[in-house]
Amino acid sequence: MAVPTESQLNAATLTPARHPLDPLTPEEIAEAAAILKTQRDLGARVRFETIVLQEPAKETVLKFRTGDPIQREAFIVILDNDAGATYEAVISLDQGKVTSWKHIPGVQPRIMLDEFRDCEAAVKASPEFQAAIKKRGITNSDLVMVDPWSAGNYGFEEENGRRLVLARSFLRSSPTDNGYARPIEGVTAVVDLNSMEVVRVDDYGVVPLPPNPGNYASEFVGEFRKDLKPLEIVQPEGTSIQVDGYGVTWQKWRLRIGFTPREGLVIHNIGYNDQGRVRPIVYRASLSDMVVPYGDPSKDHYRKNAFDAGEYGIGTLANSLTLGCDCLGEIHYFDAVMNDSRGGVVTIPNAVCLHEEDYGILWKHSDWRTGQTEVRRSRRLVVSSISTVGNYEYGFFWYFYQDGTIQLEVKLTGIVNTAAVPAGETPKYGTLVAPQLNAHIHQHFFNFRLDMSVDGEDNSVYEVNTVSEPIGPDNPHGNAFFAQTTLFKTELEAQRVIDPMSGRYWMVTNPSVANALGQPVGYKLMPGDNILPFAHPSASIIKRAGFMTKHLWVTPYDPDEITATGPYPNQHPGGAGLPEYTSAGRNIENTDLVLWYTLGYHHVPRPEDWPVSPVAYCGFMLKPVGFFDTNPVLDVPPSAHNNGACHA
Ligand code: CO
Repeated sequence: MAVPTESQLNAATLTPARHPLDPLTPEEIAEAAAILKTQRDLGARVRFETIVLQEPAKETVLKFRTGDPIQREAFIVILDNDAGATYEAVISLDQGKVTSWKHIPGVQPRIMLDEFRDCEAAVKASPEFQAAIKKRGITNSDLVMVDPWSAGNYGFEEENGRRLVLARSFLRSSPTDNGYARPIEGVTAVVDLNSMEVVRVDDYGVVPLPPNPGNYASEFVGEFRKDLKPLEIVQPEGTSIQVDGYGVTWQKWRLRIGFTPREGLVIHNIGYNDQGRVRPIVYRASLSDMVVPYGDPSKDHYRKNAFDAGEYGIGTLANSLTLGCDCLGEIHYFDAVMNDSRGGVVTIPNAVCLHEEDYGILWKHSDWRTGQTEVRRSRRLVVSSISTVGNYEYGFFWYFYQDGTIQLEVKLTGIVNTAAVPAGETPKYGTLVAPQLNAHIHQHFFNFRLDMSVDGEDNSVYEVNTVSEPIGPDNPHGNAFFAQTTLFKTELEAQRVIDPMSGRYWMVTNPSVANALGQPVGYKLMPGDNILPFAHPSASIIKRAGFMTKHLWVTPYDPDEITATGPYPNQHPGGAGLPEYTSAGRNIENTDLVLWYTLGYHHVPRPEDWPVSPVAYCGFMLKPVGFFDTNPVLDVPPSAHNNGACHA
């Protein structure tokens, strides 16, 4: 890329941001990279891991009014491949200069897209790898797929400080064949991504390729079912959504769309217009990291796990969504604008889909004496993004309901990770999904960071458990039970797991704001299905993804604490992120606080998950509790069509 001269770096040519939280524009990304290249001696072989908006201080954002001047800063992470060194920079786009430049010792940035491609090429070119696949009857590597997995951290001296991946491979039978049907079992190339050299090829012994293809693409499906009639979503007057830049208004909801390479979709400044006043609920909501630990101890499968945000950058892997396929109806799309590893601009068109959906009934009552029926239809606003991480797809769907409920749903689909087993073997740590094809047992853990601001920044968190009253003078008939509320004073007290049998939930209140009944206004975090990890506490993955061991964490707000696994989880030895943030036991009562919710999806693979998994769902909800004085959706009108028959 040609480096612009100082005179070309003219801020006046930039598309102006309209809000302090607007993601960097393509021009701002290019300018930030150019400023760093001009003002620092970056060396011959550097990669730009991240060029992202340095979000302004919360006070600045909260004070901002339309038309106020906006200061723009970029945050950059650089990997110098020659030195194996990582640097962080902050660039002032207004001043055209580097305002901060730091060497970050002992860390590995995320694995970048072009490293995947370069790694595949290096492995295929390796004579040692070619010899290993030849032992398995494969003489041509053209149709071999190579998937690099971060080496993680298992305390091996020779891996210290090296940027290593374990490259596992698969064989296609034609260019569009599903290669995951034929794992090249027992061969792992260990690759140093800094030098892009194959360090060694581990061979655990030959296992034959599974015999069957596993194709799902339309050209392989002989006959489609014929009984589907058209189903169309028609909004003849358009949608009820208003979009202004990255700002979204939908009925009473207000929010802003953000997107980062590491986190993907971010939702900012979520509020609800209650009788003319926009009341804040969440300042920032994001996927803070995720990890997929696998449960097979054999060969090097014990090293199989993936931090799909922190190691691979789930935002950089976002799909470009298509109308009528990913999203149905009247859709507003947002592009995701990010950097490539050379500091260039990458735009993913239509990375975020925004639309509204009918969601069945909102409420209903029939008065049996008068025969009068009142029923209203429910709608939800959907903000979604889907990423492909190697074999797997993750959809992140944020739903906003008319009654003030916010829901996060993860949709899991794509292809299960596979290994080959000898004919006749029944795997213990996995499921046969096709002859000689083992899908290992695994779990998907997501952590969502919810920077709460329920009617203001200073909030408190309570745990609510329903308990049975012991039999006694207050409960002579034994029927009594009640919701028991416990305040968390410190972040150590607030490390909790779900308890479905006590109806456990966690409530965020604003102690300074009361509803009409005199109760503190609040929102509750309602867990759905969830699970804990099965790895032993001493396992590497438990140390490196300590966030998995608790479903709830609460911290006081700190702008440097954004991810559950710390800033650099790739090959990190462990302990970073939530366990480290919370170790001091800081106060979380009546202060600016952040909820972190760990969501576990347990996956014992099924034959029905092959060759592509039907979508599985998991998630959680945030629901108003005394936030409103009464049912906030009485003013939703009866449906206009059906001749007003929704109230008869
Ligand atoms: Co799975």
